[in-house]
Amino acid sequence: MSIFRTKPVEQSIRETDDPERKLRRDLSAVDLAAFGIGVIVGTGIFVLTGQQAAINAGPAIVISFVIAGIVCALAAMCYAEFASTVPVAGSAYTFAYATLGEFIAWIIGWDLCLELALGASVVSRGWSAYLQRLFDLPTWLAGDKAIPDWGAIGIVALLGIVMIVGVKVSSRLTNILVAVKLAVVLFVIGLGVFFIKAANYHPFIPPARPAEKVSGGEEPLLQVIAGVTPQHFGWFGILAAAAIVFFAYIGFDVVATTAEETRNPQRDMPRGIIGSLAVCALLYVAVSAVVTGMTKYTNLNTGAPLARAFDEVGQGWAANLISLGAICGITTVILVLMLGQTRVFFAMSRDGLLPPVVGKVHPRFGTPWVITIITCAVVAALAGFIPLSELSELTSIGTLFAFVVVSIGVVVLRRTRPDLPRAFRAPGVPWLPALSVAASVWLMLNLPVQTWIRFVVWMAVGLVIYFLYSRRSSRLRHTRETPEPVTSSS
Ligand code: ALA
Repeated sequence: MSIFRTKPVEQSIRETDDPERKLRRDLSAVDLAAFGIGVIVGTGIFVLTGQQAAINAGPAIVISFVIAGIVCALAAMCYAEFASTVPVAGSAYTFAYATLGEFIAWIIGWDLCLELALGASVVSRGWSAYLQRLFDLPTWLAGDKAIPDWGAIGIVALLGIVMIVGVKVSSRLTNILVAVKLAVVLFVIGLGVFFIKAANYHPFIPPARPAEKVSGGEEPLLQVIAGVTPQHFGWFGILAAAAIVFFAYIGFDVVATTAEETRNPQRDMPRGIIGSLAVCALLYVAVSAVVTGMTKYTNLNTGAPLARAFDEVGQGWAANLISLGAICGITTVILVLMLGQTRVFFAMSRDGLLPPVVGKVHPRFGTPWVITIITCAVVAALAGFIPLSELSELTSIGTLFAFVVVSIGVVVLRRTRPDLPRAFRAPGVPWLPALSVAASVWLMLNLPVQTWIRFVVWMAVGLVIYFLYSRRSSRLRHTRETPEPVTSSS
């Protein structure tokens, strides 16, 4: 009985046909790309761009976006290979189970809660703040100061209903909102470009200066390890900003959680994952270049920096339009993050690591309705009652950790199962995955010390649950004790 037992890929694929726990295959490549862009473009670009330009990087925030984009591109190759080889719900969790064993799979499943459920909570508070601003709602009802935040709770509940009614409905809603969001982002670039003043780009990399606040755990771990005085701007500032704006890219990996609901995952998964990341990287670089060209970076430290940039050039009328785009944009981020979370929990329950009732599929809608309700309740409770804005970095560290495990998993699966059909092969294995691991760890080290502490505590809680419950209830453990024939269905 080993905690490092792996689950054969064939068994994972075969179980997707279990009539009790079967998801409907409804998604096309376009749906996947829309899901991808739907979940990627959100608070990161609408909020963090300006804040990080003002605090850490200046106009060189563009370089931060390029660095974070490269880290993601390396990981995206690995996700694309896995998702086309093992097209089963659960993404990094499922991949880890097939390669590194149950214990690591559990760790990753647990870790993904930081990216998905916590990410959805953080983002829904951002959504509520934009709503409050746009409609000038009372501050007790919605926005940063509201406890409970009815705006956040309301949007999570509404999206929960959409998720239960069907993945196709979710994807239709996503498609419409993504179109609006893309139009707004293109509008920012297209109109903003006419207001760029070269002087705003000087200095492009503002000189490093010591941070005012040197303790309290907000300094990046790397700066503490390297023994440098915590600083803003300069190259260290660019790296620190890259680690924070990485949040803006989170989501391309979530596309992989819907592999089981995709009609032709072998062909469409790599397209959906890599395509959505590439589009978003281009948009981000363009938006950050335009916004820091429109006004001095020092003016951008606000919750709505894109709108501020237009205010600064006397185009205040554009601000409301941008807020509307942000609201539409952030809605799909919440939806797809929660959708991803339910699929990871679903896969974990199918494997017996979570109670089986969690994985019940609705007889009419074909969606995992029990876990959808539980997920929405947890996300709504977190978002409604806890001020979460600082926790976006915890979401980033959780995601980067998943990248590390998936990148290692690609190399392991190439060695252990060279025979598996791989519709997409990441180039340069093992060097590309090795670089992906190094790059992800590098960004993790650039996150604040207090984020690391929270991360370690969360993972420790996960270990306790694994050893108290999941290890014993694992289906793989029981099937090993009463072996069943394994037939290949791939
Ligand atoms: N990438 C998503 C966002 O920026 C999580 O909101």
